[in-house]
Amino acid sequence: MATTPRALRLDALAYGGDYNPDQWSEDVWREDVRLMREAGVNIVSLPIFSWPQLEPQPGVYDWAWLDRILDLLWENGIAIDLATATATPPSWLLRAHPEMRPMDAEGHLLEFGSRQVYCPSSPVWRENVARMARAMAERYGNHPGLALWHISNEYGDHVSRCWCPESARHFRRWLQNRYGTLDGLNEAWGVNVWGQRYTAWDHIETPKKAPGPGNPTQLLDFERFSSDAMLELFQLEIDVLREVTPDIAVTTNFMSMFRDLDYWRFAEVEDLVTDDAYPEPADPISHVGASLNYGLMRSLKDGQPWLLLESSASATSWRDVNVPKAPGRIRVESLQAVAHGSDGVMFFQWRQAKYGQEKFHSSMLGHRGEKSRSYRETKALGLELQRLEPVRGSRVRSRVALVVDWDSWWGSSAIESLPSQRLQWAQQARAWQRALYLLGQPVDAVRATGPFDGYDVVVAPNLYIADAAQSAALTAFSEAGGTVVVGPFSGVVDATEKVFDGGAPGPFRELLGIEVDEQWPLRDDDTERVETAAGTFANVVWSEWIEEDADVEVRARYGSGELDGHPAVTVRAAGKGSAWYVSCVLDDEGLTAVFRDVLTRAGIPARDQVDVHLDVVTRADADTDYTFVLNHGRDPLTVDVPAGARDLLTGQTVADTLTLPRYGAAVLASPRAGAVPFLTLTTTTD
Ligand code: GAL
Repeated sequence: MATTPRALRLDALAYGGDYNPDQWSEDVWREDVRLMREAGVNIVSLPIFSWPQLEPQPGVYDWAWLDRILDLLWENGIAIDLATATATPPSWLLRAHPEMRPMDAEGHLLEFGSRQVYCPSSPVWRENVARMARAMAERYGNHPGLALWHISNEYGDHVSRCWCPESARHFRRWLQNRYGTLDGLNEAWGVNVWGQRYTAWDHIETPKKAPGPGNPTQLLDFERFSSDAMLELFQLEIDVLREVTPDIAVTTNFMSMFRDLDYWRFAEVEDLVTDDAYPEPADPISHVGASLNYGLMRSLKDGQPWLLLESSASATSWRDVNVPKAPGRIRVESLQAVAHGSDGVMFFQWRQAKYGQEKFHSSMLGHRGEKSRSYRETKALGLELQRLEPVRGSRVRSRVALVVDWDSWWGSSAIESLPSQRLQWAQQARAWQRALYLLGQPVDAVRATGPFDGYDVVVAPNLYIADAAQSAALTAFSEAGGTVVVGPFSGVVDATEKVFDGGAPGPFRELLGIEVDEQWPLRDDDTERVETAAGTFANVVWSEWIEEDADVEVRARYGSGELDGHPAVTVRAAGKGSAWYVSCVLDDEGLTAVFRDVLTRAGIPARDQVDVHLDVVTRADADTDYTFVLNHGRDPLTVDVPAGARDLLTGQTVADTLTLPRYGAAVLASPRAGAVPFLTLTTTTD
């Protein structure tokens, strides 16, 4: 075991992108390196998809080209995020072992012709991946430019689940490990319903398309298994790399809030969290969702800085319509990632491709080369980023945390037999975060079992699958003075999908002081009203018939429909803190009103006047708060400013107020304050 934590080997904020030199001649490499230097690039990721170029035939390697480009980069001071090149198999491997192709839920095998064509459980794939990772580590483990290992690429991007016979065998082993005996499995899966009893392990299959709704616990276990199968693949490479290069940090690039993989568990085994973020340029408020994604990234490793490993300099090419980023938006979106704890900014990719699937995807260096707008803007950004060096290593200060729980996400989205398919875990999480964002509170992510140290408020938008440990952690938090807010359809079933005795909210019953008599989803064409002290708001999607204990205060009631007059939002004093239950799915305005109530009662500042384009986040080290003030909109915004703050981007001391132009940004350094700096909007043009 290394005594010091493995970290990215770079003495600056990272700046660069994916690099595919094997698509270009060596003359172009020399131009690349020159322009990279001019743009402040200090690290690139390669050779991610180059296995066929590195091992053109089984056991025959061609390292020469990679040797040359790595040396050229390093001679020019550019470090390497070195991929193990295992993101996609060479054709010879697949043709020799056609059984390693992944299969979809309807039994179709996926073909060669794109990338990631492998079954995660395939023994042949695993053996070859380990072999390739070892070959890379032995060849380049001592290269002075090696700053980080980049394992695979975006696990699960194209194939995250496989239903093939090999996956079925692996699934059975996973189930044996989880349940021990067939009786244990039969009991867990509730097989007496619809005649599902198994009499032999090999009768169990991956949940392929069946005549009707599948067994919910089988579906849920398949989600868990599939995430674990991919995690095993990751661990396999980590083990090889740690053996050969014990001091080099490892990562794999995540895909923000990605449903299919439990990133808490992935983050546990790697050294650095990295993320690929592609907010939709056509969406003027995509930064709001990005703020939750980044909140998750910084939280996955306990608040440690993470790294934005991919983003787009302008348009993507995988959407139906790929709109470019307006001038200035590359900068403000990149600074947003840094604001939220990323120690750098990287793009897909350095040079725009001339051919292949991604030739229309923007890059730092566009098809027009140095003249391209993306180069001008990314070059300016690279140089500007150097002024933000003081923020490197600092951590984001958040008072609010949002529970991200993959089991509940899977449970409420993999299963066909639910009160409503409209109550979606991810939409709920995003709506709750959006309300908090509008009120001026960036959120961290937390597991349902904590730790919750340092937070004032913990919100759980939807904890469909719950257990006693979660309830104990949330209760202890409120006992100690914290505010807990639990959302609808929480505490419904246990980890084997069995409804809690007495119904929802199961283990949270005592904490919340309520019982759910019936879930009462709304028809698609229905909207009900919910009345709060701040006004009447629209309830869409979902309501619940709840009954409250005597010590519960009702903060909102249903104002129409069958539940007219019944409690909709409740709060109860719990120890030194309080516990809220929100039983409905309010529109943005209604949720903002509820959370304003929550924050005010918790003594946390909430903006009176909201502007969706204003994004304020503070990173801090021991002495200094670095408050990023970002305007994601096209109209100027004015905010108040802590006394004596200096803008790191301009070097100027800022007066009492700061006006940010369209897509403007400031990074205010001020002595670290006791409370998290909270900037008020003083004017808005909305
Ligand atoms: C990512 C992927 C990259 C590139 C990029 C384009 O998902 O990791 O290789 O395809 O998307 O946006």
